[in-house]
Amino acid sequence: MPTLDELIVAFDRGLRTVFAPAHSARAVPGEELPHPELSAAERAHAAALMRVNHTGEICAQALYQGQALTARNPAAKEALDHAAREETEHLAWTGRRIEELGGRQSLLNPLFYAGSFAIGAVAGLLGDRWNLGFLAETERQVVAHLDGHLTRLPAADEKSRAVVEQMKADEARHATSALEHGGAELPAPAKAAMRAASGVMTGTSYWI
Ligand SMILES: [Fe+2]
Ligand SMILES: [Fe+2]
Repeated sequence: MPTLDELIVAFDRGLRTVFAPAHSARAVPGEELPHPELSAAERAHAAALMRVNHTGEICAQALYQGQALTARNPAAKEALDHAAREETEHLAWTGRRIEELGGRQSLLNPLFYAGSFAIGAVAGLLGDRWNLGFLAETERQVVAHLDGHLTRLPAADEKSRAVVEQMKADEARHATSALEHGGAELPAPAKAAMRAASGVMTGTSYWI
């Protein structure tokens, strides 16, 4: 069981993830690119897609924090903590891009954080093989999702595209690392349930 201290730290991280601006150690991908000429509709669409990605990163933070809280093996815990710090950069990049496009973050973020944290904590309790397998599958699904966004983003919006491209490369690396740490291949119904759950997130956060 997690200690009271660990629970307090987890709660504090959750509040900061959802309500405080994230910071990035790495430069924002595409920073050097000029701001594209977009129509009002294109701008709104791009902002909504980046809102979906931002909420996805909120969920990633929550999953990692939940998993790290209940994971048993110190090496797995450390790998999860490290990946969670990298996801903070994605959070910062997508948050900034939403602002540049004149959009706003999803109002549902606290809800998605709480739900994802609970799912992560349960995955952590299943033991490291399944926990890391769950992580690898999550990251693979995120890579596929980001691929979809690369085709849906307005053609001229190279700045958003640069952010999504770098995130995609990072998520693929997270998947590989989880497998290297001993992640198991999840059964097909589990993968399908995960796709359904993330479909709810991406479908609602585009609008709300
Ligand atoms: Fe990410
Ligand atoms: Fe990731």
